[in-house]
Amino acid sequence: MIQIEVKNVFKSFKDVKAVRGISLAIPQGEFVALLGPNGAGKTTLVEMMEGLKKTDSGEILIQGKTWHKNENELRKIIGLSLQETRFAEKLSVFETLRLFASFFGLGDERVVEIIELTGLQSKQKSMTGTLSGGQRQRLALAVALLNNPQILFLDEPTTGLDPHSRLDLWHILKSLKEHGKTTLILTTHYMEEAESLCDHIIIIDEGKILREGKLEDLLDENSHNLDELFINLTGKTLNENYERF
Ligand SMILES: Nc1ncnc2c1ncn2[C@@H]1O[C@H](COP(=O)(O)OP(=O)(O)O)[C@@H](O)[C@H]1O
Ligand SMILES: [Mg+2]
Repeated sequence: MIQIEVKNVFKSFKDVKAVRGISLAIPQGEFVALLGPNGAGKTTLVEMMEGLKKTDSGEILIQGKTWHKNENELRKIIGLSLQETRFAEKLSVFETLRLFASFFGLGDERVVEIIELTGLQSKQKSMTGTLSGGQRQRLALAVALLNNPQILFLDEPTTGLDPHSRLDLWHILKSLKEHGKTTLILTTHYMEEAESLCDHIIIIDEGKILREGKLEDLLDENSHNLDELFINLTGKTLNENYERF
């Protein structure tokens, strides 16, 4: 069953054409990477899929339904973490999760479960303001997973993390893939992340899809890895604009 359908979607901010005619269809259980450099339009596209931004034109269907009129129903089946998550610094990890759980009518049992799943046991009493980058991203993932979503959106879940924290997060997502029927859409500019986690890779630049497919179908004798493919397609590298991180 198709979980997400994007049909010829456009979105501009004044004179910036952030998304320029994107169409895609994502089946249940697939892990999909939106891979592209800074400014490619990844966040704009996922925020429209998440029902947080309106399209200028085109259509987005989640399990066949539009956000308009079905928002309450769709909020229950999706989980999301935004590109930069800020928590109330004076709340502990446990209190933060309890607050978000209450929005879904979920109790402390679910909070305990999700703390174990994301490996935050030793941090549950810590104020969120004291967490490391990796712990904060695991908390953002924990919040996104609370309602056991059928569709999970993660925007740059490991940007700025050290390699060890990045692997921790990948490990959690891989176990989610083994155990569940979750459909995952993640944005990243790390080709290793797309390669390691995702069944389907969609390469985006300047608001358009350049290529998409399974890793092995995207590579050939001219492009031995995704970075090379991206350079061959655009003349620039994936991480060119990310020095500031
Ligand atoms: N709220 C906004 N107002 C104006 N321009 C925006 C806004 N959001 C994004 N943009 C612009 O749209 C383009 C795509 O941005 P974004 O979707 O954030 O890309 P990515 O997530 O791939 O880095 C960029 O040129 C960005 O500056
Ligand atoms: Mg972004």
